Amino acid sequence: MAKSAPAFTCTNCGASHRKWVGRCDSCGAWNSLVEEAPLTAGPSAKSLGAQRGRAVALTDLATEEAPPPRATSGMEELDRVLGGGLVPASAILVGGDPGIGKSTLLLQAAAAFATSGLKCVYISGEEASAQVRMRAGRLGLSQAPVKLGAETNLRDILTTLDEERPDLAIIDSIQTMWADNVDSAPGSVSQVRAAAHELVNFAKRRGTSVILVGHVTKEGQIAGPRVVEHMVDTVLYFEGERGHQFRILRAVKNRFGAADEIGVFEMTGGGLAQVGNPSALFLSERGQASPGSAVFAGIEGTRPVLTEIQALVAPSPLGTPRRTVVGLDSGRISTILAVLEARCGIPFAGLDLFLNVAGGMRVSEPAADLAVAAAILSAREDVALPPDLVLFGEISLSGALRPVGQTENRLKEARKLGFSQAIAPARTKAGTDEGMRVRQMQDLTAFVGEVFGAG
Ligand code: TYD
Ligand code: MG
Repeated sequence: MAKSAPAFTCTNCGASHRKWVGRCDSCGAWNSLVEEAPLTAGPSAKSLGAQRGRAVALTDLATEEAPPPRATSGMEELDRVLGGGLVPASAILVGGDPGIGKSTLLLQAAAAFATSGLKCVYISGEEASAQVRMRAGRLGLSQAPVKLGAETNLRDILTTLDEERPDLAIIDSIQTMWADNVDSAPGSVSQVRAAAHELVNFAKRRGTSVILVGHVTKEGQIAGPRVVEHMVDTVLYFEGERGHQFRILRAVKNRFGAADEIGVFEMTGGGLAQVGNPSALFLSERGQASPGSAVFAGIEGTRPVLTEIQALVAPSPLGTPRRTVVGLDSGRISTILAVLEARCGIPFAGLDLFLNVAGGMRVSEPAADLAVAAAILSAREDVALPPDLVLFGEISLSGALRPVGQTENRLKEARKLGFSQAIAPARTKAGTDEGMRVRQMQDLTAFVGEVFGAG
């Protein structure tokens, strides 16, 4: 008899292994192998073609089908991140650190959807019903027509949902679910995968939208198999810095809308409050013009958001100076420092650098390069930038400034918040806003010369 197929699969890269090893030799991930039942189930498993199946009905691309009607919750920040509301039969994964406010957000969402007419079921596998009711009381949602259950047995949950037929089911959390046909502990890779598979299947079969709450590992990924992210239609991350009140709901994958869309909330004593104008909030802590501060006119998804980039440069007592970066990509920062050194002749050896985005925001757009460079230079030269200045532009390795998209939106938002000058890459389509002076610059050297003197 031929040996059956490899029995272990890496949950990170999908490589197959015959034996269990601590580290996947294909992608280098530690402890990522799980046992996989071999794919030999009965004689028909030889070849699927050997036994005829059912013919699938095929249609033309032009077949007319109305776009799915979306249900809106009335929580604008949430609806926008979902791509304009909840799509029926969709599966959504909401990930985030413990204690960041996932349960609070989803209880509020359940109440909002229920109030707008959807039949909602909230299943908590982490807390007792009494605890969830207490939270609902605190949030002033006790009267919302949400059905509540506290259960972890997946079979019972599926039966309940099958009988209730809700429009929306919230499962808090996927890591607590336990499928009795899988022989491992809740939270293990095979349990999480099995539970997600069953629930996503249920969503598609029964037309119920399912929201799964997922915990995040220390590395910032949803705990459990990567495949869960591929199974669902939408992946949202709920993030925020400890000690800050701001919470950002970010779409990282969305089959029904733009990825990178964000919704901004503030955690208050009475739950999460929506922040309609995040720019104003992120800039609210800005005091007098001070060295090391630059305002970046960014775009998050479809919405312009202004953020303050803060830098501190100080002589380093260490052989290898520190580069502490919060809210920005540190690889990108190294590149910007290298370009400043190589193209503009501004050395950073022997200097510690601390960079931070005010308000706990995370900025990943390359368009932030110029504002980051401006904050770093402003800190290094101890020269404050004009308080009414915004910047945007990507820096290339040659030191050239590259134009970025949606400039009109960026400038309009800046204007709305009282800024009256901008520095942007050359060839930027600046529009004709009367109250905004837009200076366009070819490269970083020109920028350094014009803003910081000779540099
Ligand atoms: P929770 O929703 O339980 O987080 P998660 O489900 O992501 O683990 O939120 C827990 C935190 O939120 C807790 O530290 C208390 C705080 N919180 C408020 O500040 N205000 C509130 O109204 C609520 C319900 C919670
Ligand atoms: Mg929770």
